[in-house]
Amino acid sequence: MIYRHVQYAANRADLIKHLALLCLEQGSSTLRVWDAFAAMPCYPLHDLDEDRRQLLFSLMGRRGPRSLSSWQRAVAECHDPQGQPAYPGSGWLLSRLPSVEAILLSDQDEACVRALEHWFKSDGHIHVHQMDSFQEDRVWLSFQPQLVLIDPPFLSQEEWSGVQGLLTKIRRNCTKSASILWYPLRNDLTPPRDLSCPGDSSLLVDFEPSRGMNGCVLHFSGLEDSCLDELKSLCDWLSQVDELRIANVQLLEFSHASSV
Ligand SMILES: C[S@@+](CC[C@H](N)C(=O)[O-])C[C@H]1O[C@@H](n2cnc3c(N)ncnc32)[C@H](O)[C@@H]1O
Repeated sequence: MIYRHVQYAANRADLIKHLALLCLEQGSSTLRVWDAFAAMPCYPLHDLDEDRRQLLFSLMGRRGPRSLSSWQRAVAECHDPQGQPAYPGSGWLLSRLPSVEAILLSDQDEACVRALEHWFKSDGHIHVHQMDSFQEDRVWLSFQPQLVLIDPPFLSQEEWSGVQGLLTKIRRNCTKSASILWYPLRNDLTPPRDLSCPGDSSLLVDFEPSRGMNGCVLHFSGLEDSCLDELKSLCDWLSQVDELRIANVQLLEFSHASSV
């Protein structure tokens, strides 16, 4: 099955991921970020279905935590190369964070990589590479990332071994490393039990019963306290937003190794 992120861009799970990503804006240290599954730079609004467009418009008019205001500014400014309004992808959002010193955007898909290269060609601090991000090991020496965003398609249970391998490499290769892992909660997809380490946190979101996805998880390791404080504000706010149809949202902090 071929994965095309445009089918999911700006759905509620994607929005929650991006709002959480913008909590990084509160961090004080400069970061080298590897967005290992970057997909496209942006998604023209006319390619999204009506439900997703409606959700976007209603969130654009809301008041909330700082990460929401940053997200609203980013969405308002995002346009495709033809000047049409578009919804930003994770690479585009990361490129706006002042604390980010350099970004490596990678994807396995050639069309995504071509679009990213074109989009960021005049931006010296953004590097784009086509690669299998589960397998590629040169990144650790050549780019030396300090934060890795792990956001594969989760088309099959097999991807979990790649995710676990990547988490192991992050912990082994960067002493001051941080990672953000996003995954959907679905009946056919069971995450392994050993994803978390002491000090990690997880934002767990259960959606109201619907077909398809039951919820999503964002798993964070090594984030600064200021970013975690912003995440707590986001978590409180998310529970009040009816349009997201969230049944339950909580931020778990792991004081010792346990399962999510
Ligand atoms: C969920 S999308 C990423 C969405 C993006 N991070 C965002 O938030 O806007 C997943 C992407 O991973 C890419 N992908 C799948 N397997 C991969 C692999 N082994 N290495 C690199 N990229 C991969 C797909 O082509 C797809 O574009």
